[in-house]
Amino acid sequence: MSLQERFEELHRRHAEAELGGGDERVRRQHKAGKKTARERLDLLLDPGTFLELDKFVVHQTHDFGMAEQRIPGDGVVTGGGRIHGRPVFVFAQDFTVFGGSLSEAYARKICKVMDLALKTGAPVIGLNDSGGARIQEGVVSLAGYADIFLRNTLASGVVPQISAVMGPCAGGAVYSPAITDFVLMVKHTSYMFVTGPDVIRAVTHEEVSAEQLGGAETHGSTSGVAHFAADSEEECLAIIRELVSFLPQNNLEDPPLRPTTDPVDRRDESLQSAVPEQPNRPYDMKTIIETVLDDRYFFEVQAGFAPNIIIGFGRLGGRPVGIVANQPAHLAGCLDINASVKAARFVRFCDCFNVPLVTFVDVPGFLPGTAQELGGIIKHGAKLLYAFCEATVPKLTVITRKAYGGAYDVMSSKHIRGDVNLAYPTAEIAVMGPEGAVNILYRREMESAGDAAAFRDGKIREYREKFANPYIAAERGYIDEVIEPKETRARLCEALAILHTKRDANPPKKHGNMPL
Ligand code: HXC
Repeated sequence: MSLQERFEELHRRHAEAELGGGDERVRRQHKAGKKTARERLDLLLDPGTFLELDKFVVHQTHDFGMAEQRIPGDGVVTGGGRIHGRPVFVFAQDFTVFGGSLSEAYARKICKVMDLALKTGAPVIGLNDSGGARIQEGVVSLAGYADIFLRNTLASGVVPQISAVMGPCAGGAVYSPAITDFVLMVKHTSYMFVTGPDVIRAVTHEEVSAEQLGGAETHGSTSGVAHFAADSEEECLAIIRELVSFLPQNNLEDPPLRPTTDPVDRRDESLQSAVPEQPNRPYDMKTIIETVLDDRYFFEVQAGFAPNIIIGFGRLGGRPVGIVANQPAHLAGCLDINASVKAARFVRFCDCFNVPLVTFVDVPGFLPGTAQELGGIIKHGAKLLYAFCEATVPKLTVITRKAYGGAYDVMSSKHIRGDVNLAYPTAEIAVMGPEGAVNILYRREMESAGDAAAFRDGKIREYREKFANPYIAAERGYIDEVIEPKETRARLCEALAILHTKRDANPPKKHGNMPL
């Protein structure tokens, strides 16, 4: 073979691999409103940075006529690249090749990039679009999935792992995304479920569509499986690019600084009246969060699920922070099962990856009710408590209004190693609200009082004056400083800068036993 012919062969092989499942299947993919694996990677990565690996890998199956069907790459495009100049490893499943189904060779390709990511300390981003285990390969395919699950688990807390679900994702295949740190879905073109609508119809006789069962809206708002529900594939990939901008490459690094022109001592008068005078009036905690962060920009995570708690990223003085905040505009900001689980996982993520936590507190307590108690609020609420207790990253807390009962302890209080705990003059730190307290303490007296209502109002006023303020906690040092709201940004930025060198550790152990 001449030199020229050798080059031509290489070009031919490249072209064949890049064609994926062929023009007709690519056309079908586009018609379904989906992009191909390569088109997605073009949008995800910085232009010209994709370094593809294993482009000529083919499967080794002979059964079911597979020997005649070998497509270079075998249904998954893998390699490395850059996002905002920083290395990442990627795999993009190619639905045009055997429905993106997972073979032994395909799993090996994914495992190879995951191993490289672990060795080099770089995030792994998976773009999932697959019919699941390759049926023609049987148990070998299941073994391939297990090899990936194991690596997902070993990489957890070492490098960030992000999963976009951009097509079907069913059966055990959902468990790789589920182990990763963030799951993104695309509305109307992706779904995730363990057993699909047909199996459900056969077993439980329930009628449900794939979209209702496992679409982006369902997982973004009802199950909480997805952290983001994007309107389009472009938006989904743009969200991933933004998400990694807040994250370190691995657990040994700090998150990347992004210098800002927003003054760290910016004092915002609008904050002075952000918390209403009437203690039971709702307000939007996001207004406070946005006002305080660099460039007033907050990147919310899991916005559609358990809106009574807010989580997400922002920056203070250029440093990324993880925000956890009660939202008085939903369920009065109560902690319930979903809110606890949502925030607990986020706190643990931030702690793994050295992202300081800033917690805004306005919480009347845990949500009362049989559904919550029977659903295990004790166990689920304990997750959030455990997560805040074990976190050793810098922890800043701002109590804007209510911090009642156990929820006060849970929400990054001083007692569980909060580093800098601030409160507004509107803060009410007590075992419970005045009404509840008076009903319990003075039940007998109220029964015998001539004017029970007047007696009760008087006692409520007395309790409120005594306990519904931040000063008893401040006298004990549980609150480091009571500040005017307009000082919030300046104080947090300064505290964060001072805490930058914080060193704290938990006792040596294999791992804790958090209440799962
Ligand atoms: C091999 C598969 C495949 C699979 C799809 N294809 N799934 N090939 N193994 N699992 C092929 C189809 O034969 C077809 O090939 C092409 O991919 C596109 O599939 P269509 O059915 O035409 O596409 P669509 O109508 O969009 O439907 C997509 C689908 C459906 C919903 C994913 O294909 C489907 O239900 N597939 C089977 C899903 C499944 O049961 N997988 C196993 C689950 S168990 P041609 O040549 O016609 O283009 C599992 C275990 C994981 O995954 C375990 C982990 C522990």
